[in-house]
Amino acid sequence: MSEDQSRSLLYLVVCAAPPARHIDELVELLHQAGWHICVIPTPHAASWIDHQVLAQQTGHPIRHDHRLPGDPDSLPRADAIAVVPATFNTINKWAAGISDTFALGILNEAIGLKLPITIAPYAKPSLAAHPEFDKNLEKLAKWGVKVLPNEVIRVRAEAQDTEMEGDDKPALHFSWRPVVEAVARNL
Ligand SMILES: Cc1cc2nc3c(=O)[nH]c(=O)nc-3n(C[C@H](O)[C@H](O)[C@H](O)COP(=O)(O)O)c2cc1C
Repeated sequence: MSEDQSRSLLYLVVCAAPPARHIDELVELLHQAGWHICVIPTPHAASWIDHQVLAQQTGHPIRHDHRLPGDPDSLPRADAIAVVPATFNTINKWAAGISDTFALGILNEAIGLKLPITIAPYAKPSLAAHPEFDKNLEKLAKWGVKVLPNEVIRVRAEAQDTEMEGDDKPALHFSWRPVVEAVARNL
């Protein structure tokens, strides 16, 4: 992708849930919407994605670990952040202020910096029913995070048709549009 300084930069934090395997689809749609993207996977998600493909697609290295003190920062400053998919684990740790991954460090700092943050939680019903989950989503929302409904990106059978963008294009694996629209609104 060619560098266009007029575009805003979005950090796309990716957690270890199945949509991570197809995050290139969301990157493509966000590019079409005018964003530069830096993909920041959690350490678990880092082993689920193809770093080479995503680095080539975004034009930025895929960072998932902390740099050493004194090393230069390899990522440009973000204008906004999206967490997609946002796991039960990362949501609960973030709401507790835990910074034990590079991704969580970015997210905790972003709260202090008051950056626009949009998240698409992705937790199965048995995890989503845990009492801390809703409490922590509410906490994040109170801090200014735009929280999309849990599993809004899951494609259900009846929605498959609307995910088709044309006869010659395959259906997307997940329903990314709500994310793209929410990120654009949350500025
Ligand atoms: C195949 C597989 C699917 C998973 N799906 C989910 C999921 O949909 N949502 C979720 O919150 N965790 C899911 N997990 C568990 C997370 O990967 C696990 O909690 C991990 O520690 C999350 O790390 P992270 O939050 O740092 O990305 C899944 C794990 C595996 C192995």
